[in-house]
Amino acid sequence: MADIIDGKAIAAELRQQIAADTQVLIDQNITPGLAVVLVGEDPASRVYVSMKEKACATAGIYSVEHKLPSETSEAILLELIDQLNSDEKIDGILVQLPLPGHIDEAKVLEAISPGKDVDGFHPYNVGRLLTGNPVFQPCTPFGIMKMLESIGVDLQGKDVVIVGRSNIVGKPVALMCLAEHATVTICHSRTVNLPQKVAAADVVIAAVGRPEMIKGDWIKKGAIVIDVGVNRVGDKKLVGDVDFVAACENAAAITPVPGGVGPMTITMLLYNTLVSAKRRAER
Ligand code: GUN
Repeated sequence: MADIIDGKAIAAELRQQIAADTQVLIDQNITPGLAVVLVGEDPASRVYVSMKEKACATAGIYSVEHKLPSETSEAILLELIDQLNSDEKIDGILVQLPLPGHIDEAKVLEAISPGKDVDGFHPYNVGRLLTGNPVFQPCTPFGIMKMLESIGVDLQGKDVVIVGRSNIVGKPVALMCLAEHATVTICHSRTVNLPQKVAAADVVIAAVGRPEMIKGDWIKKGAIVIDVGVNRVGDKKLVGDVDFVAACENAAAITPVPGGVGPMTITMLLYNTLVSAKRRAER
């Protein structure tokens, strides 16, 4: 039976350290500040944004939320970002994705000052990650790496199979694993023989957004399974991208959904905001 990787507990410990470090900065008259921008009414985004706000408050980080109606023009959004770029109280800017269809996402992400891009989505930060000299690392993959570190997984020489190639998770986590000297395979919807690819993995990172698509008997005995999926089935139930119960038979350790990767993502947002404020303190 697999060990359950308690993301909630790992996140709680990190958040305590973040809160303590935040207090040290506040004592030097530097309060870390995060601006969260939400355009439109997407229910999941609203939940995420309110969780981010609460987490900031608990850590002692100042946060402001800018809720804009879904019909907001791209120009107005860009103007707000400009304003936040030059706001001295703000160390981090996060524009919640997805954006409404009439807004060019790439243009918006490029408008955020790379030095305040706590999501790590600006092409500058993407490039810095690619070349192995990161400034801000995207929160979900960063949280996955912290989690693996905290349970003592050494990726050197390991076969890591990632299912999903998004800019938010799949691609950046691949780069992070590569930086830790893993051999990385990125699989996706057109991958041929996916079960065989997954079966070769020492570490499986599932980030496809399809409920329980990765079957338990694909998992190699003793593998580590990180499930990034958050899929709502029926009215209330949340399930991951991995068939959890069956995967537990083979995995050495596995993240649950919820309570696995989720709490780590927001934790790393707090962490990035704190780091940004520390850089301000040193300027
Ligand atoms: N939407 C889904 N994940 C994320 C994330 O990590 N950051 C932002 N800004 N939007 C998201």
